[in-house]
Amino acid sequence: MTAEPTAAAARHGPELAGQIVVVIGGGAGIGLETARRARAEGADVILTARDPDRLRRAGLELGARTAAFDATDFERLGRFFAELPATIDHVLVTGPGPYYAPLRELDVAKARRDVEAHLLLPVQVARHAAGKVRPGGTLLFMGGTGGRRTAVGLAFISALTAALPALTKNLALELAPVRVNLIAAGFVDTPLSAAILGDQLDARREQLRATLPIRRVVGPADVAALAVHLMTNTAVTGATFDIDGGEQLVAG
Ligand SMILES: NC(=O)c1ccc[n+]([C@@H]2O[C@H](COP(=O)([O-])OP(=O)(O)OC[C@H]3O[C@@H](n4cnc5c(N)ncnc54)[C@H](OP(=O)(O)O)[C@@H]3O)[C@@H](O)[C@H]2O)c1
Repeated sequence: MTAEPTAAAARHGPELAGQIVVVIGGGAGIGLETARRARAEGADVILTARDPDRLRRAGLELGARTAAFDATDFERLGRFFAELPATIDHVLVTGPGPYYAPLRELDVAKARRDVEAHLLLPVQVARHAAGKVRPGGTLLFMGGTGGRRTAVGLAFISALTAALPALTKNLALELAPVRVNLIAAGFVDTPLSAAILGDQLDARREQLRATLPIRRVVGPADVAALAVHLMTNTAVTGATFDIDGGEQLVAG
């Protein structure tokens, strides 16, 4: 009996040599770190984000092409995909942070923008990427584990959190043989976390070091390693991968 070649068996040298990786939301945080890792594995990288200066610096550091625009401007997003090379290999979608508020404070306009950023953006990327990503390539979406809890103020974000694995599974079927996977992160030490926590950031890091089963804080490089693995492991599709250092297993 001859075994099918596996990604692990076929691996030598840079894992993404000659491949094109597109990162939507690649100017900072998880997106930038994934771009760095993909570049180190030999990929050509194309980065997008809104802030042109920060994006230009990221592009210069990585030798990457860049395009500055708001990914929730879906017309602009469509033009971006139309201008990409005929075939690309992988797309990682990150972007804006979460929105949550108790019901009586819920701002419906912000909630609507959040649906656009976290649910319609992956759908739009899937529509545009369908004709661009090669068979066996990947779409990778970013979700979270925090919204799996039940708590006052989490109704809206929990609904979005629950929607993403369902979206991912169905798109994996519809876009096959392109693969579609979801990364669900807990706390990741990025500029977004720093912006949300402000002067509470160090206290939160300390608390996580003390309480997480891994006894350290999850960083963007941890998520980047998982993202690149999902780009190269051709056995994986329709799946949700938690990366939270065990945060869901412990209170707080
Ligand atoms: N950090 C965490 O603890 C954590 C946990 C779970 C899930 N996540 C999710 O993972 C994703 C990335 O988080 P991160 O921590 O890496 O955030 P980050 O540090 O703020 O980086 C986000 C990147 O996306 C870009 N971006 C934001 N809004 C955009 C838009 N509308 N259009 C295009 N680019 C946009 C930002 O640049 P510009 O501002 O210049 O556009 C930046 O380059 C987010 O969706 C977040 O909700 C994060």
